[in-house]
Amino acid sequence: MMLSPDLFPVPLIHISETNSTNSYLQTFCAKEKTEEFTTVAADYQTSGRGQRGNSWESEPHKNLLFSFVLFPEFLEARRQFLISQIVSLAIKEELDTYTDDVSIKWPNDIYWKEKKICGILIENDLIGRNISRSIAGIGININQEEFHSPAPNPVSLYQITGKQYDIYEVLKNIMLRIQSYYNQLKKNDTLSIVAHYEKSLFRKEGMHRYKDADGEFLARIVCVEPEGRLILEDEMQAKRRYMFKEVEYLLK
Ligand code: BTN
Repeated sequence: MMLSPDLFPVPLIHISETNSTNSYLQTFCAKEKTEEFTTVAADYQTSGRGQRGNSWESEPHKNLLFSFVLFPEFLEARRQFLISQIVSLAIKEELDTYTDDVSIKWPNDIYWKEKKICGILIENDLIGRNISRSIAGIGININQEEFHSPAPNPVSLYQITGKQYDIYEVLKNIMLRIQSYYNQLKKNDTLSIVAHYEKSLFRKEGMHRYKDADGEFLARIVCVEPEGRLILEDEMQAKRRYMFKEVEYLLK
């Protein structure tokens, strides 16, 4: 385990292997007084966790697998989607410096074209009406050359650009961007966060195929509400409103 290497903008714990960096950081916070932005990065996860109980697979040493902790006690739980928005934006904007066609697939996957380059798992603890702790876990496919896992549409930065990257340089830049967005959030300067998020959305224009409990349909994105609800408008101009997991994007 390596703590706070010089020149890294946040406290960094590097470990070669763990079950999940989110779980590692939860246990670490329970044992030690932990500074905000403390980041755990692993070379390999034996049971990386994804959304909806899925797993997250990554070859050892190839990709970014990390979690960091925030204590956003100023933020009401009903506004917790802002954490997802700033984390997604920071990653999207860093990946924009390496390639075109990066977008945020609602609520917080990062896509290149129609493929997933990054997954985010945010676990919030509440105290009363506010958030006491937020652990954000992020997997970004950077240098992996091939994917063999059953994940439906993975892609790595290497596959897009043909180049290999220093994953800690990418991590450093992402943490600087997250710090900057978090300062904006602390100042309650949320309008531009929301505007940037909407501008960065996958399928922000045009009619596309979706599927909900009633079947498949064509629709366009109208907006994302502050609680994170996605508003679609179908071919009959009817508005359809979805919380996470209630609608599926049908990909090409
Ligand atoms: C998703 O299903 O899209 C979310 C995937 C999140 C994966 C990352 S990898 C680092 C961190 N530790 C975990 O166990 N999960 C997250």
